[in-house]
Amino acid sequence: MHLLNHSISNFRNIEAIRFIPDRGVNVVFGQNGQGKTNLLESIFLLTGAKSFRTKKDVDFIRQGEEKCLIESKFFLNSRDQHIRMIISSKGRIAEKNRGGEKRASSLAGIFCCVLFSAESLLLVKGGPQQRRSFIDFALCQISPKYLIEIKNYSRVLSQKNSLLRDVYRIPGVYDMLDVYDRQLAETARVITKMRKSFCENLLSLAEHDYLAISGNREQINLTYSSTIWEDDKISFEQGIDKITRLRDTDVRAGFSTAGPHRDDLLITIDGNDARGFASQGQQRSIVLALKLAEASLMERSLGEKPLLLLDDVLSELDGNRQDFLLERLTDCQTVITGCDPLLVSKRIDASVFEMREGRLLS
Ligand SMILES: Nc1ncnc2c1ncn2[C@@H]1O[C@H](COP(=O)(O)OP(=O)(O)O)[C@@H](O)[C@H]1O
Ligand SMILES: [Mg+2]
Repeated sequence: MHLLNHSISNFRNIEAIRFIPDRGVNVVFGQNGQGKTNLLESIFLLTGAKSFRTKKDVDFIRQGEEKCLIESKFFLNSRDQHIRMIISSKGRIAEKNRGGEKRASSLAGIFCCVLFSAESLLLVKGGPQQRRSFIDFALCQISPKYLIEIKNYSRVLSQKNSLLRDVYRIPGVYDMLDVYDRQLAETARVITKMRKSFCENLLSLAEHDYLAISGNREQINLTYSSTIWEDDKISFEQGIDKITRLRDTDVRAGFSTAGPHRDDLLITIDGNDARGFASQGQQRSIVLALKLAEASLMERSLGEKPLLLLDDVLSELDGNRQDFLLERLTDCQTVITGCDPLLVSKRIDASVFEMREGRLLS
């Protein structure tokens, strides 16, 4: 897929711009604080996901204004498509192909992109939550079924958690918890299987790139680590038993202590846990390999190339890794931000734009 044009108004420091990117690589350069990340963030919102850097929707609205508007045309599934999003104090409302207004989260699975930003580097050193969000974001774009399961799981989980917090006041609470545990286990089982299979596919793609980046010296491995089904021999019923056995622990904690919301992705290099072991350079290489694998997997599943958004990452990579990344951007449409446009344009053909005080110059 590719973005044809992208108009935004009153989005953060951007009063009004129309971005018409090239089919290939686009560089948006400028000094700090000019609006480069804001532009990428507004493109990222077309996926229907929440922003990668803000929790509150009102933060998007330009100071002194009441709402902001994002309007984009892109080519996907052999035709032009359209998304219009309005962000106001009521939240994010989106309309796809003029088919009526819905909540922005309904856009999931349409516009697909892979984002690589400075925060992505936390994939290795950050907490399990960061690795789970990486898997969830990719899978929600690839699979409508996964999106439904995740929503289902979160709903039942929060119902169960509110029972756990009130356990001494609700009569018959243990019978109710039994029912919730079974429902939770059913959806947890599906989510766990889908995440495991995603991680296996990711590894089969990432290991090759990682070897290449490390000069054929180091081997990366990924293992999805489930808090319920530690290995494939554990049956569904044994999984439920495990959840039930944790009941007292859950009551004491006031929340459910096992399940996909507590799982992790274990990343190792030559058998060592990358979280404690990887050097800065190794972390960057791992994230680079994982992000490229994510893009390939998305293409494989959707039959479309995702848009790549690379926010200020080139300057964080050394020369060899910059070369490696730019060489791999063969035919995905890409938007790269940074202070120095030459980092890209001296290596490959690119359309260059300048962002200055929220205005786009080309
Ligand atoms: N709601 C808002 N209204 C006006 N300006 C905003 C708003 N949110 C963020 N900004 C401004 O946007 C600028 C940051 O833009 P950003 O895209 O992060 O810069 P960079 O070019 O370094 O990536 C800052 O100057 C910040 O004050
Ligand atoms: Mg920035």
